[in-house]
Parts: sequence; structure tokens; C-alpha cells
Amino acid sequence: MQIETFELERNQSLYENTVKYNLTESGIHPYTLRELLTEEQQAEVLDLRLGYGQTNGAPELRATLAGYYRGCNEDNILVTNGSAEANFVAFWSLLEPGDEVAMMLPNYQLLYGLARSLGCTVKPFHLRESANWAPDLGELESQLTDKTRIIALCNPNNPTGAVLSREDMQRIVKLAEARDCYILSDEIYAGSELDGVETTSFLDLYPRTIVASGLAKSLAHPGLRIGWLAGPPEVIAGAWHHHDYTSISTGIISQYVANVIMQPAKRAEVLERGRSLLRTNVPIVERWVGNHAENFRLISPRAGGMAFIGYNMEINSSELATRLRLEKDVLVVAGDWFGMDRYLRLGIGGKTTELLEGLELIDEFLLQLKGE
Ligand SMILES: Cc1ncc(COP(=O)(O)O)c(C=O)c1O
Repeated sequence: MQIETFELERNQSLYENTVKYNLTESGIHPYTLRELLTEEQQAEVLDLRLGYGQTNGAPELRATLAGYYRGCNEDNILVTNGSAEANFVAFWSLLEPGDEVAMMLPNYQLLYGLARSLGCTVKPFHLRESANWAPDLGELESQLTDKTRIIALCNPNNPTGAVLSREDMQRIVKLAEARDCYILSDEIYAGSELDGVETTSFLDLYPRTIVASGLAKSLAHPGLRIGWLAGPPEVIAGAWHHHDYTSISTGIISQYVANVIMQPAKRAEVLERGRSLLRTNVPIVERWVGNHAENFRLISPRAGGMAFIGYNMEINSSELATRLRLEKDVLVVAGDWFGMDRYLRLGIGGKTTELLEGLELIDEFLLQLKGE
């Protein structure tokens, strides 16, 4: 099975822990366990017996997660190692060679690369910058055929931070209904909307939806490696069947902590901390782009810890990212890693001081570049 290099993850794996300023992270600044857990909960963690536990996820955790989707119970949930694994087992269990997947682009590369390696054809439909990153649904409609098995999308979107309007969601549902295909909706950035209005899950609108989500982004705990699928019980059962071949189960400690985070009051507190960080950081990036308006442009993100910035300078985005890393110790995401040169994605969900210092170093680099 051939699989193309996952450019974004490979570059992050190589460098995110070695640079001084990592501006590639699209999630919210993580917690420590001490910050998150009460003393009583910390003591409970110490007493956890580290067996395997239930391989599709502890029943209490699945019940808690199911509570966030209309009409769902624990049979609608599979707990996975990150939403990366959730996405993986969903595609792996549902797709056959020759199937077609209509896919929102730009997008996190995982599903694009995986679908192709499974022998499927990816039919893109694009978010248009000229339409404030709204999707081209005429293009989606023209890409659907009898072979379309899944419409795959990411809402709120990585890398643009765009959120689908309710109207566009309804139109996508109508198109999926007409072809009787699944919608795979990656909703890991839901809950970080700056206006505080949480994005509706596609699963609340269309029963043949499979949601991939997790704790890594809006919920600020990537290190727990907890994700999940929510969807029809027969799809979840099929994904669990495949999950036995990947990682068997998630960690007992992570499942315990996830259940703490996903209690409604705690979840609301974690999400509010993230939004408040973004409400500080987004205006900083907007001002920075405004100060460089001759070269940079930004449609402000509506959710997620990222800003997808277009530029008009004569330098390829991978080269720009490499030089920033080598010359200024700042890591940014090259648009190339999303298949879109002449863009950069900046992580803006981290500490404000780090963002400010990182931007200053980018300023220094830009001055240098002008002088060359
Ligand atoms: C849209 C999207 N889905 C999934 C993932 C993977 O998340 P996790 O850390 O939960 O595996 C990412 C990570 O960047 C992402 O952006």
C-alpha cells in the first residue's frame, strides 16, 4: 500500500519540539494535569489500575460523549487514539477500492492521502477565498456520482478557520441525501468559535453522518490522545472491528481524564478559556497583517487556533517556512503542506507572549528579505 508523505505532520514531528517558537499548533494552549484535576481527582488517577479496559471506550465515557449528539447513546460512539485514528478507522472500514470521496479542500491531509492509498478517487470541492472561504457547492454537486460513498469535510475548517453557514450545511445534507452517501464531518475545532456560538454537528442534521472529533484542539488536551467517532451504530461497530487492528484501545488514564473534561460544566470552562485566548490573539494577528497589507492578507478565522494568511511575495511557502525556522527559530506551516503555495498558517491558540515574540522575529526576517 503506497501512501504519500504527510507533509504537515512530518514537518511538525521533525521540528515542533526543537524550535524556540512553534507557531504551527492549531489547537489551544494545553493544560497540565495539576491545572485540570482537583486533588481528589488526582488521587483517583493514582489509584487507577492500568489494565486494558473496554476496547471501544469506557461505557461512562461513551455515554458522556453521546450526550453531545441528538438521539445518541453509547452504541453511537467509538473512543479512539486521537481524532486522527477516528478518521482513519472510519475511512478504512467504509471505503472500497474504486469508491469516490468528495472532499472539502483545503483540509487536513490525513483523509486525502488515506482515501487515495485505499484505491479511491478524491473529488475535491473548494472553499473559495473570494467568498470568505465559503464552499463552492456547485462544484460539490458536479463532483457527486453514483460511486460517491462519502462527502468528507472539516467544520470548522482547518486551515482557514471558516465555519459553514447553516444554509450551506442544509444544502450539503440535501446533496448527500440525494446520493444516499455518508457525510464524514471532522468537528475537532467546534467549540472554539470566537462568537461563542458552537457549530451544529452534522449528526444532528443528517443520520448518515460520521463525526470525527477529539480533545486535541478546542478542548486543549492533545497529549491525552483521545478522539472519537460518533455515528450510526452499524458504522461504529464496523469501525470498532477495524480498531482491533490498529491500537486495540485508548489508555485508561486518558479515558478517565477525558471523562472529567467532557462533563458539561468543565467542558464549558475549558472552551471559554480557549475562546478568551483567541479573542486576545486574533486581533494581534489582524493588526500584524494590517501592518503588512502590501504583502499579506487575511480573512479572519471564525474558529480554531489558526490564521491562514495569503501573501504575494516571490518566495515559495516551503522555502519561507524553512528559512524562518533556520534563521529565526520560528516554525510556521507552509501553505504547500496544504497544497496551497503562497499561504502560511500561523498557530494562534498558544500563549500571547510567544505569538508576539514570534511575529517580531517574522518582521525581522521580512526586513532582511526585502534587502536581498
Ligand atoms: C482537522 C483535524 N483533524 C484531526 C486532527 C488530528 O487530531 P488528533 O490530535 O486528535 O489526532 C487534526 C490535527 O491537526 C486536524 O487538524
